[in-house]
Amino acid sequence: MKADVEYFEFMWPMKHFLITCGDIKAKSNIIAVSFCMPVSKEPPLIACAIGRKTYSCELIESTKELIVNVPTAELKQKVYYCGYHSGREVDKFKETGLTPQPGRKVKAPIIGECIAHMECKIEDIFKTGDKNLFIGKVIEAYADEEFVKGKKKVDYSSGDFPRKIYGTRYSKKFIQ
Ligand SMILES: Cc1cc2nc3c(=O)[nH]c(=O)nc-3n(C[C@H](O)[C@H](O)[C@H](O)COP(=O)(O)O)c2cc1C
Repeated sequence: MKADVEYFEFMWPMKHFLITCGDIKAKSNIIAVSFCMPVSKEPPLIACAIGRKTYSCELIESTKELIVNVPTAELKQKVYYCGYHSGREVDKFKETGLTPQPGRKVKAPIIGECIAHMECKIEDIFKTGDKNLFIGKVIEAYADEEFVKGKKKVDYSSGDFPRKIYGTRYSKKFIQ
């Protein structure tokens, strides 16, 4: 017997990414994202699907830049904080204690505690249902040396994407 499911239910667990956007000198923001993957090696392109109602979508549409930061498992609670709060209402750097540091070429900050960073210039935007699919050309990619070329194994942050994410903001349940 087979039972009907939410179409995406069996695509999890997924890896977590923290995308930074905006401008380190003005207003910058962090969004937790799982819908993010490489889509071309030459040229190097990353695709990220970001909800059109999010503050990050607004910032990325305006600057045409973003940075994909890779958090390790120990940052998971901070990932959830960034995923359940909007930068329209809170300063996520301040609330999580994550450290904004200047990027190499992009105005948005990198997150100091993350282990790898892909700076992207937006090449294309496709509307996919409730999301904008941003296609970013990677102009800089760098990581903490100890993890480069497999010297140290990365313990990625990953997990289930709670189903009610689009409807409700959980402040207490998932955040410590
Ligand atoms: C683990 C996790 C993964 C998420 N992945 C995505 C995603 O891929 N795309 C998306 O639009 N929102 C995703 N979200 C939801 C956003 O992070 C959330 O809507 C956030 O509050 C938007 O913040 P902003 O308004 O500051 O941009 C995810 C949330 C969590 C907790």
